Order: sequence, then structure tokens, then C-alpha cells
Amino acid sequence: MSAADAHVIEANGARIPIVGLGTMTLKDNVCVQATQDALRIGYTHLDTAAFYGNEKEVGEGFAASGKKRDQVFICTKVRQNDLMPDDFARVLDQSLANLKIPQVDLLLIHWNNKDIPLKLSVGALNKAKRDGKTKHIGVANFTTALLDEAWSVTSEPLVCNQIEVHPFINQDKVIAASKKKGMAVVAYCPIARGKAPGNDVLERIGKAHGKTSAQVSLRYLAQLGIAAIPRTATPAHLQANLDIFNFKLTDAEMAELKKLNATNMRVVNPPHAPVWDT
Ligand SMILES: NC(=O)c1ccc[n+]([C@@H]2O[C@H](COP(=O)([O-])OP(=O)(O)OC[C@H]3O[C@@H](n4cnc5c(N)ncnc54)[C@H](OP(=O)(O)O)[C@@H]3O)[C@@H](O)[C@H]2O)c1
Repeated sequence: MSAADAHVIEANGARIPIVGLGTMTLKDNVCVQATQDALRIGYTHLDTAAFYGNEKEVGEGFAASGKKRDQVFICTKVRQNDLMPDDFARVLDQSLANLKIPQVDLLLIHWNNKDIPLKLSVGALNKAKRDGKTKHIGVANFTTALLDEAWSVTSEPLVCNQIEVHPFINQDKVIAASKKKGMAVVAYCPIARGKAPGNDVLERIGKAHGKTSAQVSLRYLAQLGIAAIPRTATPAHLQANLDIFNFKLTDAEMAELKKLNATNMRVVNPPHAPVWDT
């Protein structure tokens, strides 16, 4: 069975639900409510980060949902300023306290810090797993070169690389390198931060299936074996982003969407970004 049909991606011992709720920019009660609504309608995967300043609200939404801990896959991230081992341990404890859980399912280095050796940051990530504070470990925004370096210093398997993927960017190299190492690719900005809706090709393909452009973008990723964490607090969009398992894009449609990769639109490119693979 394909990952898209199984609704889950298996990667180096982890089982990552193919659709998760992205929460960046969701704050206060909007975040609590969106988290709770998402879990109520069937989401099983939440994505937060210390940097988002909303772990407390994500934790509240989870608690209010009444879901058992083992029914929900929760991912958080340690940001690039906090990767020295002592800082790492301190902010992770704060993240767990915010979320009000003793362990996350997945802990990521949010961005590499070129001034902190990966031996130290990945070492701290490994220690978090050994200490039982996370079930699995992984990275985000890692290039092929950073992946090679991270794997050369890790004792525990890295289960995912969370990177920007949508139809308007070509990430073939880093996707292939991640998959070769058995890692799941988790797509952030999977609907190009709202730019998928309105695109003519996605609209037309969507119409043929009775789906929206956002759903086509998410289904395209699922058929590539890539998980996605679209962000929304709009109830209709929450539901739509989950309803991508009851249609299938044809090979011709997948090829047409692949051609859009040439648009080369990178939405997220902060000053601390690495030199991306081209
Ligand atoms: N690791 C990293 O460095 C990193 C970087 C960026 C993001 N992320 C993670 O990835 C998540 C997703 O990325 P993102 O939030 O930047 O962008 P995104 O999910 O691609 O786009 C979010 C935008 O799309 C709209 N939208 C969502 N579902 C829709 C639908 N079905 N139809 C029409 N519009 C829809 C939302 O508006 P409405 O609210 O109106 O629905 C919102 O404006 C983040 O929230 C975060 O968890 C990680």
C-alpha cells in the first residue's frame, strides 16, 4: 500500500501521519480552538515549535480534545539560538512544560546554526531521546551536505527532514537525499503559504476531481510520499486539508504539477538559512 493510501509515512522506526496541523502564527484562543477542532475531526499530528510561542496553547487544545496521548503525534523544535547542549536541554524542558506532556513524538533542530558544531547540536538531540523526552529525532531545513554531516555524528536514527515543499519549488535533490537515508520528508508551506489557491493549473486539476487547489497541492505531496503540515484555523479549511484521501491524481496530472516546480518560488528564506541545494 502506498504512503498516501496508508495515511502514514514509515521512516526509520517512526510512523508519521501524512497530514498534520501546522500552527505557526496561530496564537492564544485561536490556536487552542484550531488544535481542538483539528483533533476532533480526525487529525492525529500537530506541529509546533518553541519559536512559535504557542506550545502552551497547542498543549491546551490537545488536553481539551480528550484524545489519549498515544492517539496524537506531536512534534516540536529547538531553534538555532538554543543548540548548545545546556541551552538545548533547558528549552526542551520548557517546551515539555508548555505542552504539559513528558515526551514529544518528534523533536527537531529547527534550523542549523553554522557557529555551533553539529556534533554538539545533534549530540543534544540524541541525549533528549536517550532521556526519554522524545520518541524520535529529526531535523528541519537541512541541505544534502548538512544531512551527510548530521548522519556522521548521530547514534540514533534521524527520522525526518522538515523542509519547504509545494508544487512551485524544486526540492528533488534534498528529497532524494532524505529518502535515501530512510527519512520522511515533511513539507512545510505545503500550499505555498496560501498561494496554491488561485493558480490556474491547480484550479483546473482540482475541478476535474471536485477538489480545491489547496487539496490538489496536498494530494500531490501525498502521492510523492511526502507528509504535509498545512496551517489554518478556518474550520472549512481544516476539514478540506484532511479530505485528500478520497481522490487520486493521474500520472499526467502529477507530471503537469511537477512542471510547476520550475517557478522556483521559495517562500521561507531567512538570513540564517543554509546555502540551499540547487
Ligand atoms: N521548519 C520550518 O522552518 C518551518 C517553516 C515554515 C512553516 N513551518 C510549519 O509548517 C506549517 C505550514 O506552513 P505555513 O503556515 O507557512 O504555510 P501553508 O500551510 O502553506 O499556508 C498557510 C496559509 O494557507 C491558507 N490555507 C490553509 N488551508 C487552506 C485551504 N484549504 N484553502 C485555502 N487556503 C488555505 C491559510 O489561510 P486560512 O487561515 O484562511 O485557512 C494560510 O494563510 C507552519 O504553520 C509551521 O507549523 C515550519
